[in-house]
Amino acid sequence: MPVSVVIIGSRDQRLEDTLRASGRIGSITWSADLAGLLDAHASQPDVVLVDVRRAPQVPSAVTALKRQHPGTNVMLLASELDPALMLQGMRAGVNEIVADPLSQPEFDAAITRLLGNRSHAPAGPVFAFVGAKGGVGTTTTAVNVAMLLAKMSPSRALLLDLHLAYGDAAVFLGVDARFSVLDALENMHRLDSAFLKSLVVQTPSGVDLLASAERPASRPVELRRLNTVVELAASQYGYTVVDVPRSDLGVIDSLDLVSNLVVVANQELATVRNAGRMASALRSRYPKAKVTTVINRRDARAEIGQRDVERAVGGTIAHQFPSDYRRALHAMHKGRPLALDNHNDLSASFKALAMELAGMSDKENGRSGGPTGLKGLLGLRS
Ligand SMILES: Nc1ncnc2c1ncn2[C@@H]1O[C@H](COP(=O)(O)OP(=O)(O)O)[C@@H](O)[C@H]1O
Ligand SMILES: [Mg+2]
Repeated sequence: MPVSVVIIGSRDQRLEDTLRASGRIGSITWSADLAGLLDAHASQPDVVLVDVRRAPQVPSAVTALKRQHPGTNVMLLASELDPALMLQGMRAGVNEIVADPLSQPEFDAAITRLLGNRSHAPAGPVFAFVGAKGGVGTTTTAVNVAMLLAKMSPSRALLLDLHLAYGDAAVFLGVDARFSVLDALENMHRLDSAFLKSLVVQTPSGVDLLASAERPASRPVELRRLNTVVELAASQYGYTVVDVPRSDLGVIDSLDLVSNLVVVANQELATVRNAGRMASALRSRYPKAKVTTVINRRDARAEIGQRDVERAVGGTIAHQFPSDYRRALHAMHKGRPLALDNHNDLSASFKALAMELAGMSDKENGRSGGPTGLKGLLGLRS
């Protein structure tokens, strides 16, 4: 994907020529200051290059920009790599500092450190799943939906376990993964489609997996890099399903390319309250994404009913998954997603969600919906 750059400073043709020579640049816009980018809704370029060659200090607007848009990559162009300026830059959240005279290979290397070797393929949709509480069945839902997307459509699907360490999607899919998302994050300079492919494991149920690591990160991971990994994945796969850790909401905040966000809840008071807060926060953070809440382990006789959950999350609950602990546990122990077996209500309800996310009708999927339609038969819509 071509990289968009905004340069803050007075026009310098030589600098612009250097950037253009890199061959990775889609657009260059010049601006005198950062004012136009500060608004919460201002669309952001991939990289903001701030020219501080004449006044070697970090403009205060950079701090404001990084606070408002932590995902925007800021690169400083300084007259020299002065330690005081580098420290100031670090404190302001600057991602890269390069020195004058900037050569094209140096600029390329800095862009690759920031964005990886992004490919040119168009991106498929990204579906992110996050639990309103731990243990509600987020991974179960993400794994089954990803597997169904891989099975139902000709495009390949990837499940991305964004628990940087100790996530369990691999267990659900019955594989031992040698590599993980941490390997991607720690090797951004190598990140291209071939490297991604080498990290991904093909699972017996047809979905590809970029697993969580079985070791903690050796140093703090710059969360913004996750966005680059997701972007690359989306450019390589028809569908990308992301299992997002709820313990670190910074992870979800770092993803730009999400088409649908699914909050997984149940009918317990604490979970429903969290779901309400999360759904509204996610709606304002992701104005372009569709945010939906689903109920797992539905209990028809629970004190908190569907309507109560709908009121709490401010939207319709279109999908509810029945409780079937024996089947869910058996599937996990076998490492075989339960929706591989048809003819049970839990599989059918995961399938209805997968089909809706993929924008597929029952007919397109080669089966007849029957007189009342699949969802009607399952009573999945109120
Ligand atoms: N619909 C369901 N019915 C019964 N048990 C379920 C259901 N969905 C998930 N489980 C079980 O609940 C436990 C937690 O599921 P998991 O997907 O790991 O949750 P999370 O990712 O939210 O922590 C697992 O033992 C799983 O088998
Ligand atoms: Mg989980």
